Amino acid sequence: MSLICPICQGALQRVDNGAVCPANHRFDRARQGYLNLLPVQHKNSRDPGDNAAMVEARRRFLEGGHYAPLAKRLAELAASYAPERWVDIGCGEGYYTAQLADALPDADGYALDISREAVKRACKRAPQLSWLVASMARVPLADSSCQLLASVFSPLDWLEARRLLAPAGGLLRMGPTRDHLMQLRQKLYDEVRDYDDQKHLELIPEGMRLAHSETLSFTLNLASSEARADLLAMTPHGWRASAERRAAVIAEPFDVTVAIRYDWIEKL
Ligand SMILES: C[S@@+](CC[C@H](N)C(=O)[O-])C[C@H]1O[C@@H](n2cnc3c(N)ncnc32)[C@H](O)[C@@H]1O
Ligand SMILES: [Zn+2]
Repeated sequence: MSLICPICQGALQRVDNGAVCPANHRFDRARQGYLNLLPVQHKNSRDPGDNAAMVEARRRFLEGGHYAPLAKRLAELAASYAPERWVDIGCGEGYYTAQLADALPDADGYALDISREAVKRACKRAPQLSWLVASMARVPLADSSCQLLASVFSPLDWLEARRLLAPAGGLLRMGPTRDHLMQLRQKLYDEVRDYDDQKHLELIPEGMRLAHSETLSFTLNLASSEARADLLAMTPHGWRASAERRAAVIAEPFDVTVAIRYDWIEKL
């Protein structure tokens, strides 16, 4: 096991019901198989991260296959970098993580999220991975120990990413472009705010550089009202818009553009 203690950074040893460090900080393994490496003092709320309803909406929507091309390309890109060890940071309910795992069968794979609800569901998808409830601000893995970090529709702690990456390793980031879900945003807001899809590039810390970018876009026909409701519930747009606007979106089918960018940001 190459995990480290999130409190003192000592090496964790596997024990019957979890893991323990030399300073005797103990962490439980849940019956579902994931390790809880989020000490209470690192939690900002009792139940941080996405709640069960958001996780459930995302799970149903993704199971509907609407975003399958996004996951396929993500997995292809990850395989092309052939990492020995990788971590999906902010894995959510594990839809993308499981496809990364399929594409990287011989690698040592980890996935973490601060939401217990998310990890509880996610870990069933790929039991061969190490699933962790943990904070991306204190990833319980050693310095320079990973060749690939995945960050999919998630916030990111950039300095922590740099710490984790081995030289020539990289961060595979997947996020929206300015056109993503445009028709949905038009239905929800009087004025659609422009989204700067380059902004994250300004956050790249010294010692890392953008080595590759590409975009993928396609049109989705949202024929079922359940899919439209789930899409609303899983995006920030869902809870920002008014109840009337949300009801209107759910009421009738529409076409929506999916437009995503992939960035590979290397550690020098
Ligand atoms: C929009 S979701 C994306 C989930 C998944 N990657 C996907 O695309 O389906 C963002 C995820 O980041 C997690 N998250 C937010 N803050 C976090 C933190 N500090 N540490 C770890 N995960 C965090 C949330 O719980 C949520 O599951
Ligand atoms: Zn410790």
